[in-house]
Amino acid sequence: MSQTEEFDKRNLEFIARGAADKSFLELTRQWFATANSHEYSYHFEWLSRPIIQYPQDIVALQELIWRIKPDLIIETGIAHGGSLILSASLLAMLDYCEAAVAGHTLNPRDTRRRVLGIDIDIRQHNRIAIEEHPLAHHIDMIQGSSIEPDVVTQVHGIARDHDRVLVILDSNHTHEHVLAELEAYAPLTSKESYCVVFDTVIEDMPENIFPDRPWGKGNNPKTAVREYLRRLDKEGRKAFDGDPLAFRADRIIEGKLLITVAPDGYLMRV
Ligand SMILES: C[S@@+](CC[C@H](N)C(=O)[O-])C[C@H]1O[C@@H](n2cnc3c(N)ncnc32)[C@H](O)[C@@H]1O
Repeated sequence: MSQTEEFDKRNLEFIARGAADKSFLELTRQWFATANSHEYSYHFEWLSRPIIQYPQDIVALQELIWRIKPDLIIETGIAHGGSLILSASLLAMLDYCEAAVAGHTLNPRDTRRRVLGIDIDIRQHNRIAIEEHPLAHHIDMIQGSSIEPDVVTQVHGIARDHDRVLVILDSNHTHEHVLAELEAYAPLTSKESYCVVFDTVIEDMPENIFPDRPWGKGNNPKTAVREYLRRLDKEGRKAFDGDPLAFRADRIIEGKLLITVAPDGYLMRV
C-alpha cells in the first residue's frame, strides 16, 4: 500500500469512528441547535457575496466540484448569490487548471462551464451585485418558481448542451416543493455526479424551531428525499441520459462533516 493509500485508509477509519461516536454526535446536535439560534448560517461570504451555508458544507462542495468537474451546476435558491459565486469560482478554477495542464492560453470568458441559478424572487440589488461580479461570465439566472413547468423546461433545454451536471437544491424547504424539485431536476444529475439537497437537517432539529416557516419536522427536504428514493425504488425513473436513475446518500461526506445542513442529502448517482 502506498503512503497516500495508507493516509486515505486511516482517514476513512477515523471518519467512520467519529460518525459512530454517540457523544461526538450529541455535542454536534447541541452545537447545531445553538448555532441555529444565532443565525450562524447567515454570517459568511464567498468572494464578497453573502452565502447562506455552513463553512463545512462549502468545503464539501469544493471537494465534490473538483472531483466531478462539472460543466453545468444547477442551483435552486439564489438569495444574495453567494452560492452561485462559490460554484462560479470553482468552475473558473477548473478552467484555469485545465488550461495550465494543456499549456493553453486561457480566455476566461470563453468557457463552457456554467452555473445556472433559479429563484422565485431575485432582488434587484442582488441581481446587480451578481451581474457586476468578476465571475458573472460563468453565471446564468432564471427568475421563477423552480417547479413551474416553464422553468423546468428551460433548465432541461440548457442541460441538453452539457455533459457533466451537478444539481444543488436550496430553495423552498417544504416536503412538497423539494419532492417536486427532485422529480424535475434529479434526473439531470450525470453519472457519478451528485444531487445535493440542503436543509435535510430540519428533520433532526427540535420541534417548532422555525415557527415562522412552513417547514419543520415531518415536512422538510429529508422527508422529500426519503419519499423520492422510495419512488425510485418502487416505480423506477429514467435519467436524462436514458439510463435507470438511482442515488445513494454519501455517508463519507456527512461522516466527516458531522456539522452539515445536508445529512442524507449528499445524493450520489450510482
Ligand atoms: C436558503 S436561500 C438560498 C441560499 C443560497 N443557495 C446560498 O447558499 O446563499 C433560499 C432561496 O430560495 C428562494 N425560493 C423560495 N421559494 C422558491 C421557489 N418556489 N422557487 C425558486 N426559489 C425559491 C428564495 O427566494 C431564497 O432566495
